[in-house]
Amino acid sequence: MSRHMALLLVALALAGCAQACIYKFGTSPDSKATHTGDHWDHSLNGENWEGKDAAGKPWVCKTGRKQSPINVPQYHVLDEKGSKIASGLQTKWSYPDLISNGTSVQVINNGHTIQVQWTYNYEGHATIAIPATHNESTPIVEVLHMHSGDASDRVTAVPTQFHFHSTSEHLLAGKIFPLELHIVHKITEKLEACKGGCFSVTGILFQLDNGPDNELLEAIFAHMPTREGTFTNLPAGTAIKLAELLPTDRDYVTYEGSLTTPPCSEGLLWHVMTHPQRISFGQWNRYRLAVGEKECNHTEAAAGAEEAGPHHHHHHHHRRLLHNHAAKLEEVASAAVSAEPKPYFRRVLEATEENPDAYTCKTVAFGQNFRNAQYANGRTIKLARDE
Ligand SMILES: *[C@@H]1O[C@H](CO)[C@@H](O)[C@H](O)[C@H]1NC(C)=O
Ligand SMILES: *[C@@H]1O[C@H](CO)[C@@H](O)[C@H](O)[C@H]1NC(C)=O
Ligand SMILES: *[C@@H]1O[C@H](CO)[C@@H](O)[C@H](O)[C@H]1NC(C)=O
Ligand SMILES: [Zn+2]
Repeated sequence: MSRHMALLLVALALAGCAQACIYKFGTSPDSKATHTGDHWDHSLNGENWEGKDAAGKPWVCKTGRKQSPINVPQYHVLDEKGSKIASGLQTKWSYPDLISNGTSVQVINNGHTIQVQWTYNYEGHATIAIPATHNESTPIVEVLHMHSGDASDRVTAVPTQFHFHSTSEHLLAGKIFPLELHIVHKITEKLEACKGGCFSVTGILFQLDNGPDNELLEAIFAHMPTREGTFTNLPAGTAIKLAELLPTDRDYVTYEGSLTTPPCSEGLLWHVMTHPQRISFGQWNRYRLAVGEKECNHTEAAAGAEEAGPHHHHHHHHRRLLHNHAAKLEEVASAAVSAEPKPYFRRVLEATEENPDAYTCKTVAFGQNFRNAQYANGRTIKLARDE
């Protein structure tokens, strides 16, 4: 195809959505999220994740052999293989309530997920078994290869954030769930290999029922921002009952895996709780709207209004406004032919001082933010279950 033809097609595509374009979650021109490294989104559920991080290091999503998520085998398959974590070596979770003082706990929409973060010294933790004697290369996943009666020690894993995926990333015996919660923990003690930080994630699945909202989830979902790159402070006194978000019966399946988003780094110790929690239809729909597809307008008239309006330049100085349609076409065309892709669109209408949350994109379709299940490639997968 000639360069001229390519330009024409791009121009036509743009003209086709000059009034209102539909963007996937993670790509909205209205987003306040910042990206480091190559851009990515969930539109192909991870199948196209080839790129580099901010430091130029290639992602391992397509090349790694120990990727997450996986399809978790049925209990009886693991039982028959004797693939069990001895009771003395099982991970233990201790989570007091996470309580906001008004500014210390945030619910963030980062354009890839809805995430909860905190700025105070939360006391929650998990403890993970390691061998009593270890060397500089003993990994955090060593518990997978330990046996009942082995002399052991424990490391403390401190939660750093938690976030959600819809639908679930892990499958239980082939079954997909509407939601999965990931509690991300960091380990920095005892093991030489964890000096720079090792990670362990606990995954909790949610199944859909016709009951009322799950109040434990509601403490978070009631404050879920729908605009990418923004956050909400949880009101003072709001408590997130993390211990109750874990199922009462803490049976889990554990294996060595990876981050489920770029750069897909491996060496993580995964725990997937095998007893699902519950989510209401209303909550599932609201979550999917927050990670939904957005319609954004890019009109000449709107650009003019922006120029004429009294309040615009206070809030988003960093956004370059496009003054006319021709300039926009030119930018799109040049982005299409240059090797380095760059953002195609700029936001046209801005929030005002009176209404800082007003924005020109609106959610028009339910979304999803999960990565497809990956091959197990013969990995050790063990069940931890009280007899
Ligand atoms: C809330 O917690 C944050 C982080 O620990 C602290 O900086 C801030 O002073 C606290 N605010 C109030 C009102 O206690
Ligand atoms: C270090 O310990 C691991 C088990 O944690 C073992 O597999 C490995 O062989 C040991 N390496 C050395 C150099 O001793
Ligand atoms: C975009 O413009 C159309 C036509 O004016 C309007 O119906 C629609 O609501 C607008 N969408 C947004 C997100 O402002
Ligand atoms: Zn996750």
